[in-house]
Amino acid sequence: MQYTNKNFPALKNDRLLRAARGDEVDKVPVWVMRQAGRYLPEFQAVRAKHDFFTVCRTPELACEVTLQPLRRYEHLDASIIFSDILVIPQALGMTVEMHPGLGPVFPEPLKDPKEINNLQEDGAVSRLTYVGDAITLTRHKIEGKVPLIGFTGAPFTLMGYMIEGGGSKTMSKTKEWLEKYPKDIHKLLSLLTRVIIDYLVMQAESGAQLLQVFESSADHLTREQFMEFSAPYLKEIRSGVTQKLNNNKLEQVPMTVFAKGGGHSLDIQATLGYETIGLDWTVDPIEARKIIGANITLQGNLDPQDLYKSPEEIRTLTKQMVQNFGKHRYIANLGHGITPQTPLESMTAFTEAVHEAL
Ligand code: CP3
Repeated sequence: MQYTNKNFPALKNDRLLRAARGDEVDKVPVWVMRQAGRYLPEFQAVRAKHDFFTVCRTPELACEVTLQPLRRYEHLDASIIFSDILVIPQALGMTVEMHPGLGPVFPEPLKDPKEINNLQEDGAVSRLTYVGDAITLTRHKIEGKVPLIGFTGAPFTLMGYMIEGGGSKTMSKTKEWLEKYPKDIHKLLSLLTRVIIDYLVMQAESGAQLLQVFESSADHLTREQFMEFSAPYLKEIRSGVTQKLNNNKLEQVPMTVFAKGGGHSLDIQATLGYETIGLDWTVDPIEARKIIGANITLQGNLDPQDLYKSPEEIRTLTKQMVQNFGKHRYIANLGHGITPQTPLESMTAFTEAVHEAL
């Protein structure tokens, strides 16, 4: 570890953490997935000079881009550490490249279940200490302005990238594996789960104040498949993190599960032990609240495409959304990441409207 001083500045804005714990808030907290991203010219300027994974691996650069959206948008109530979910497959020994316009590419994806044995589980988290360093540095540089969120990909989502070799519209190879090699699939999901638990504990130890698990490929799963290949691992991650933080005498941190396209199994997600459930825009806020109940915080869920509308329309849609969710146990966000061509003023309209609503 490069950065070891954990004596962090006091937190001045705890709306996000209050909402996650179910405490009263003065205003609804708001942040945006991919808020440090390509829609920001200052992010593009950093990327023009540095490769994507170099930014992830250099704590000073990761810290700088994490802070960029906070400098521009005064209404943001959280930051999320700049990194990527695919740093875990890298730490297991796989090569991942980020190709402009194409997204992540694995030159050598898993082609046969036997190759699971080649993954280097031992020491994987020690190869991710640069994420911990970025978190610790950012906790100092952020000066307690807002909380810092850490994150990971969920086992099924990571496995999908490792088998497909990148993003896939059909996930045809992964689905073939689910049918043909269920034993190997569960072995790989268990391996990823163990690494993820230790990785999240390391992030909390480094200063992350909330942890979000991205099950971004849940839209490819049926409810039955979600129950078999996603939910048990998500549950194990949640309880494993609590247990290890306890064992290490570390403070507990609230956790969020975001299963994109997981509207088919909100009732199952409500049983996994997470304080917050993230919703994509296909889910109706009032229906979601009925299914999930009153004791879990909801996060979401404006369609990122709505940010291409006029600022007035964005304000109206945002206020309607906040009204539908209500002030209690709610964190405003988009239903997925902000997209690269989003006009800068859309974020102003969105974040301001959240704070003005109710
Ligand atoms: O939210 C934040 O501001 C923190 C940063 C963050 C990134 N990736 C930065 C990023 C987070 C939380 C992620 C998570 C991530 N990465 C997910 C889960 C969230 C989701 O979108 O469902 C996934 C599936 C990935 C894998 C990944 N990384 C893909 C599919 C892509 C390409 C798609 C795209 O938007 O281009 C990336 C690249 C990536 N990750 C970028 C950023 C800012 C853009 C690449 C660039 O700068 O060139």
